[in-house]
Amino acid sequence: MLDATAHVGRLPSPSVWDVNSTADRLVDAGAFVSRDLNLAGFTTLRVGGPAPIVAECSTTQALVDAVRFLDAASIPTLLIAGGSNLVIGDAGWDGVVIRIATSVVRLGDNVIAAEAGAVWDDVVATTVDAGLGGLECLSGIPGSAGATPVQNVGAYGVEVGSVLHRVRLLDRRSGEIRWVETSELGLGYRTSVLKHSEDALVLDVELQVSPDGLSAPIRYRELTTTLSVGEGDQVPAAQARDAVLGLRRGKGMVLDAADHDTWSAGSFFTNPVVPDAEVSTVMAAITRQLGDIAVPSYPADGGVKLSAGWLIERAGFGKGYPGNGAVATLSTKHTLALTNRGSASASDIASLARTVRDGVRGAFGVELFPEPVTVGFKI
Ligand code: EPU
Repeated sequence: MLDATAHVGRLPSPSVWDVNSTADRLVDAGAFVSRDLNLAGFTTLRVGGPAPIVAECSTTQALVDAVRFLDAASIPTLLIAGGSNLVIGDAGWDGVVIRIATSVVRLGDNVIAAEAGAVWDDVVATTVDAGLGGLECLSGIPGSAGATPVQNVGAYGVEVGSVLHRVRLLDRRSGEIRWVETSELGLGYRTSVLKHSEDALVLDVELQVSPDGLSAPIRYRELTTTLSVGEGDQVPAAQARDAVLGLRRGKGMVLDAADHDTWSAGSFFTNPVVPDAEVSTVMAAITRQLGDIAVPSYPADGGVKLSAGWLIERAGFGKGYPGNGAVATLSTKHTLALTNRGSASASDIASLARTVRDGVRGAFGVELFPEPVTVGFKI
């Protein structure tokens, strides 16, 4: 019988590629190329190791040319835009990093278009300033426009899926570019067919807006309270945007370089959906631990959605856990955000994430799953 391990050393390594000629080729494609950069600064969590090449593409043409070349040459490629939903491991990336830096936003009366790299909150602000309604509840979310359909970003009662018109994708297997309708994207709670897949790259998004300048119907309880309106009411989009930004700031969910509570990847875990068959067991575990307590829960497909932030806090991980002096802690404003207090490594973040996940599982039998994409390690 052959010893399978004997072959390992003879297999062609996927990372055998020439750095100099690759860099030259990326410059020819129109990218701005840097060598041997640390990647921490490209993410909002600010952790992660180095990469030999970072190629910044500020036009869609450069982006497409660069990615087509890298894919054809089978060079490992990591695509980064806003870096707000990404945790890069301490070993970094042994390949090319493409930074998506396109930025053009085009306004129309009913549909607006944004290039993938456009800063998402700039897109929202531009529409609100132009008197267009519909995106205001998604104010203050870090990241890029192109990332929003990938994980069907949502906040304050609105999901991108409900306002998305279509997306333009580069099919990385065929190299072809095509527009894809929203219905083809398999959008769900913080997910789509694009998430955890290398098959397609978002180049542009088109979003529906309303020219009356009114917000989407306000449904999220916290927001109806803040705005003093009834469920389903509409208000001027700018008013809703201000209220959402205020709420998000209160939770440390608006980026501020001076505030370590915002050195995070937003919600680190998705809100878990407990399958119908397990709900009574989980509720019994919660009652056993906490007594008779109102548990925030929402109906979901095939089960009940619980609040990860609530479960984390009740499992004994309060805001700021494990406390002053730790390099990685929960945000002091919201238990769902894992934060880098300035000198954390990816492994510090990962070990905090595992502690919290295991603690919630131990206390209530509920499994939490990370929302950000991790590179080079798994939680
Ligand atoms: N809670 C706690 N402790 C905390 C924070 C929250 O007990 O430290 C409790 C709250 O009292 C409330 C419940 O948890 O009962 C829910 O909290 P919150 O309203 O802040 O919303 P969330 O479910 O934690 C979700 C999204 C956010 C989005 C907000 C507002 C997920 C994983 N998170 O948070 O999205 O901004 O609702 O719509 O769906 C993100 O995905 O990165 C993100 C920030």
